[in-house]
Amino acid sequence: MTTLIPNDSSLSVDIADLTYAWPGHKPLLNNCCLQVPKGQFWMLLGANGSGKSTLLKLMSGLLDCPPEAKIRLDKPVGFVFQNPDRQLVMPTVGADVAFGLASENLTQAETKTRVEKALDAVGLLHLIRRPIYALSGGQKHRVAIAGALARHCRLMLLDEPTALLDPDSQIELVEQLRGLVDRTKIAALWITHRLEELNWADRAVLLADGAIAASDRPEIIRDQLEQIPSIPSSLA
Ligand SMILES: Nc1ncnc2c1ncn2[C@@H]1O[C@H](COP(=O)(O)OP(=O)(O)O)[C@@H](O)[C@H]1O
Ligand SMILES: [Mg+2]
Repeated sequence: MTTLIPNDSSLSVDIADLTYAWPGHKPLLNNCCLQVPKGQFWMLLGANGSGKSTLLKLMSGLLDCPPEAKIRLDKPVGFVFQNPDRQLVMPTVGADVAFGLASENLTQAETKTRVEKALDAVGLLHLIRRPIYALSGGQKHRVAIAGALARHCRLMLLDEPTALLDPDSQIELVEQLRGLVDRTKIAALWITHRLEELNWADRAVLLADGAIAASDRPEIIRDQLEQIPSIPSSLA
């Protein structure tokens, strides 16, 4: 399936009636609908196994969507994995960000400008020649984000980007993404189980029983989750 551009130009994500089952299993996503406006930072929450990663993989094209699925996304789409070691493939920071541009037929000067601008946006320009192995976890996530920015992504999908980070790096990353969304007007959908991160989001949505069970202001979703004893324990 090829994803389409949203019909409604105010939306960055427009998903209608997405049903998906892993082979041999009952549907994990069941008539799931989600709309994210352009220029907003949304967080996606839900218990372990509720299908958050599967939804992002379907959106990013890492998983094939059923042919009848209606997924419309503002493109290009950038995807940041939970574990950046699975995503960063080149030996140095600059080479890795440039690698994502290989298919764009840019001149060397254009590539250099794009790489430098993207690294500057995540505060890592000074590390352009640094080997990937010498980066911290938070810096690796920022390189992955720079890779998406260099491709001029309009929508960024992030799967638990702070799960492996210490509390300081966690807050730094979420603050940085908030700033990027405000400055560049891209949209971002960020999966998390850390409720304190909701402070930086425009809106939060909760995935349960195969669909978006709640969509509201972040503080309202946080209150809901804190009141359900079974959910915070699996989210902790
Ligand atoms: N490659 C796969 N093959 C079969 N089932 C899978 C695969 N990946 C995930 N699942 C199943 O899909 C369900 C949802 O997983 P996932 O999307 O990773 O949830 P979440 O990210 O919300 O924790 C789980 O029951 C998981 O076992
Ligand atoms: Mg997951």
